[in-house]
Amino acid sequence: MIISVLNTKGGVGKSTISLNLAVLRAMSGRDVLLIDGDRQATTMQAIAQRTMLGALPAISVANYTDGPLLRGQVQQAKNKYEDIVIDAGGRDSTALRAALMISDVLLIPFQPRSFDVWGVGDMAELVKEASCMRDGLRAFAVLSGADPRGSDNAAAAEAVAELECIQYLDTPIGRRKSLADAAGSGLSVVEWKPRDLKAVTEITSLYNAAFESS
Ligand SMILES: Nc1ncnc2c1ncn2[C@@H]1O[C@H](COP(=O)(O)OP(=O)(O)O)[C@@H](O)[C@H]1O
Ligand SMILES: [Mg+2]
Repeated sequence: MIISVLNTKGGVGKSTISLNLAVLRAMSGRDVLLIDGDRQATTMQAIAQRTMLGALPAISVANYTDGPLLRGQVQQAKNKYEDIVIDAGGRDSTALRAALMISDVLLIPFQPRSFDVWGVGDMAELVKEASCMRDGLRAFAVLSGADPRGSDNAAAAEAVAELECIQYLDTPIGRRKSLADAAGSGLSVVEWKPRDLKAVTEITSLYNAAFESS
């Protein structure tokens, strides 16, 4: 299965979520390739930290920022890996466009703020365009950096639920330091000590929803 974590907006948690999904998938015994489609290559750097720590399972990672190259490499990798997780975007890049064409499932992380909700609207346009050219694309928006309280999460979810072509996935990820700290060492929050049970529960719910959705 090919899952892409995309948003034309940066800083929304794409790399953090991609890393966590890839590690959880690998922990379940699957052969996973994590693709970093971003020039900043933060996911590559995170996995380099993981490798330095000697954390297991080791995660295969590659950096393809050019859309056609990414597409070609994924076509080949599909024969070798059971699952591929692609982290792309931060802007409207060719890597993001390629991911839209080749993925089974898209996850679009967004924060519960107006600018972010508008960003999901922008993604909905891209998903719509891609859906004209291919079948079977399933796109889900997921709250990332959700507030601990207040009404903004619900308001953002409601606004996104009205969009065409994108479903709201009700497995929000809260703003949690453990997630950021773990990712900085190339670890999923499931591997992080001290254990943050709330973060583990949230990521596990997102993981289950994402991989069961296809
Ligand atoms: N759920 C979260 N809780 C706390 N910090 C987060 C969370 N998700 C991401 N971050 C932090 O926010 C910043 C941007 O996240 P990142 O995953 O790099 O976003 P993107 O890949 O969309 O640019 C990073 O510093 C990351 O550690
Ligand atoms: Mg990133």
